[in-house]
Amino acid sequence: MPEQSKAIEVRDLDVRYGSLQILHGISMDVPKGRTVGIVGESGSGKSTLAKTLVGVVRPSAGSVTMGGVSVTSARGARRSQLRRAVQMIPQDPYSSLDPRCTIGEALAEAVDPRRANVKKHQELIVHWLETVKMPADSIHRFPHEFSGGQRQRVAIARGLILEPTVVIADEITSALDVSVQAEILALISRLRAELGLTMVFISHNLAVVRQVSDEVAVLYRGEVVEHSTSSELFGNPQHEYTRKLLSAIPGVPGFSIDPGPREGASQLVARAC
Ligand SMILES: Nc1ncnc2c1ncn2[C@@H]1O[C@H](COP(=O)(O)OP(=O)(O)O)[C@@H](O)[C@H]1O
Ligand SMILES: [Mg+2]
Repeated sequence: MPEQSKAIEVRDLDVRYGSLQILHGISMDVPKGRTVGIVGESGSGKSTLAKTLVGVVRPSAGSVTMGGVSVTSARGARRSQLRRAVQMIPQDPYSSLDPRCTIGEALAEAVDPRRANVKKHQELIVHWLETVKMPADSIHRFPHEFSGGQRQRVAIARGLILEPTVVIADEITSALDVSVQAEILALISRLRAELGLTMVFISHNLAVVRQVSDEVAVLYRGEVVEHSTSSELFGNPQHEYTRKLLSAIPGVPGFSIDPGPREGASQLVARAC
């Protein structure tokens, strides 16, 4: 793969919390404009990987590079540039918006954290509310006036308003009802195509990951045990753990819906993280 086409390069990444090693030798590339899904059960290290990608957690070994800039060692202006270019969309739309701020203020704050000036950025805010299909008057209303799905739309607008090149989405549908999940997945699919986003899309639910990902990496106990294109992974899974995850999805060709033993795959998709 030519250098230019890689938006994210992860090399031999180890992450520890104290004496406990959470991630083991993770390497992966995310090509520009593509979405790589990360799937794995609760506790497998997905959020730790997300935090390491955005530079919140420092690895004990290995490197993360975004657009040729090292996330782990960037300082000063390069660090600020990265902070704009790489955005994380939060999991929980109930806790990610400040209840005291209007939706307009929440978006203005994303544009300029020093001063949430709605008037100054009104045009941009209105544009993003339209883009994520929020009612126009929501600019003056408060988070509690909206449903979980609508709040997640606002959280997505907040993540995208600075036009990042890379988006890290960690369990962004896990707190939502299934029908609302589908709406948010449709929104994310549309935006990633329209904006040409590079995305790392994380979920414990393989059925969810499947809907938006060009490639899928399977994380098991802090290791990537399989990484291939979505069609390869779903058509011809190599690792036993991947097969287990797949067997929990109803209607995947070649896989029975048989829930199997009690500790089987159904439990692997049941927990939000
Ligand atoms: N700040 C932390 N300090 C110590 N251990 C942590 C911390 N954050 C997560 N862990 C542990 O790291 C492991 C992976 O957690 P996490 O990355 O949140 O997994 P996932 O997102 O896949 O559920 C878990 O065993 C978790 O308890
Ligand atoms: Mg998590």
